[in-house]
Amino acid sequence: LKVLFVTSEIHPLIKTGGLADVSGALPAALRELSTEVRVLVPGYPKVLAGAKNKRLLHTFHDLPEADEVHLLSASLPGNGVPLLIIDCPVLYQRDGGPYQNPAGVDWPDNAQRFALLSRIGAILGSDATPLSFRPNIVHCNDWQSALVPAFLRFMHGKKAATVMTIHNLAFQGIFPPHVVTEVGLPPACFSIEGVEYYGNFSFLKAGLYYADHISTVSPTYAQEIQQEALGFGMQGLLTRRSNKLTGIVNGIDTSDWNPAADPHLVQGYDAGNMAGKTANKLALQEKMGLKRDPDIPLLGMISRITQQKGGDLLLEIAPQLLRENVQIVLLGTGETVLENGFRNLDHAHPDRVGVTIGFDEGLSHLVEAGADLFLMPSRFEPCGLNQMYSQRYGTPPIVHATGGLADTVEDGVTGFVFEPMTAEAFLASIRRALTTYHDKQAWHAIQHNAMTRDFSWKKSAEDYLALYKAVLSPESTNYR
Ligand code: ADP
Ligand code: GLC
Repeated sequence: LKVLFVTSEIHPLIKTGGLADVSGALPAALRELSTEVRVLVPGYPKVLAGAKNKRLLHTFHDLPEADEVHLLSASLPGNGVPLLIIDCPVLYQRDGGPYQNPAGVDWPDNAQRFALLSRIGAILGSDATPLSFRPNIVHCNDWQSALVPAFLRFMHGKKAATVMTIHNLAFQGIFPPHVVTEVGLPPACFSIEGVEYYGNFSFLKAGLYYADHISTVSPTYAQEIQQEALGFGMQGLLTRRSNKLTGIVNGIDTSDWNPAADPHLVQGYDAGNMAGKTANKLALQEKMGLKRDPDIPLLGMISRITQQKGGDLLLEIAPQLLRENVQIVLLGTGETVLENGFRNLDHAHPDRVGVTIGFDEGLSHLVEAGADLFLMPSRFEPCGLNQMYSQRYGTPPIVHATGGLADTVEDGVTGFVFEPMTAEAFLASIRRALTTYHDKQAWHAIQHNAMTRDFSWKKSAEDYLALYKAVLSPESTNYR
């Protein structure tokens, strides 16, 4: 089976969040199952600089987005997954992130930038491909590649089936209506039965409407997005297509996230020998300017600081929480108001609170290892990866019962789960965790359970493979 995996970010080349981690690891796990995979990514500067064995495969002329677009083959550093890179300097060769300029403002031509990603994905999945690699499945991820199913729908000849994975329904790629015809879709697509979303053009809706199958990154989130509260207006469409909607929980890259051999830690450790964890805690306390003390419970959080992630809830309970003997460490970037809230908390309690505003891969590993408890009070969480990293690092997570958090943390066994999403419930769960922390035997049992859970990609990759096969089976009814 051959799969073209289309993504706008990939670890270790370019990352803003969990999509990069998934894109760096799932294709490798699929290859272990004898699937032939190519990952299609935009040629941002970091991708061109970091990819190995780059070679020009083909030049496209006169596409709507650019006169000349080069397609390169390459491989991903680390696991060697084969890449296809879209080299289009006018759209991708810029400083800043994949979606935003260095000041944090969305690129004004994001519609063109990701229409091109989707267009090349569709061409490579159709008879028009210049390559000998002919995918059976084009696997799209989030809005940036969500036009692939729409483009393919209106192309002729033999074509691949499409799977559209929702990593986060909150991000939809919304553009004005005139973009529909600018990207070359028929005007009739701009309808409720099509890509129209409250008067605008939603790239994600194109994927949800035209893909042969939809998946999302946990079974609980697959249910939640069919309801109004978390459906972002797509609940009707998703409910109607629920027989084509599957939830498959993410795995984690167990070689990148391995406390026994993690280059970002000061000392390795595993479930059988936890001494190294204390060394990392002391190193983290020192780095964050906190009092070095192995016994004071250290609560860690790493996240985009947005409404989704519930950082505001942590700020709300901080005054009460800091009456307990605890330290708090936060690593993240996001909304200015919340960032400033955390900066102020840090200034008010310099020896108890350590805040780093920024994106720092190395520090994120040290926080996972050095904290005693990991906080994830997300309002919604399609899957979430940090709660799995923290379990593997013997740092039981405290999570809100939502999405993938509900599916991957077992209350009182591998971590602590709270409900409802209120300051009281969050604080109560932290207090419950602290009581357990001070009972050494109970604590070690929880750490041991968490560290020995299997979060590897193997099972999830098998589920994706089974899904691809089902989508391709002659009995499946789809749009092709
Ligand atoms: P999301 O994709 O919604 O942001 P996930 O939990 O799936 O949430 O994945 C987030 C990923 O990004 C994790 O690997 C996490 O460690 C990482 N991350 C988030 N914020 C930062 C940061 N400020 N510095 C380093 N890594 C971060
Ligand atoms: C999104 C979600 C997160 C998920 C990640 C990878 O960014 O917010 O919950 O883990 O995608 O699927």
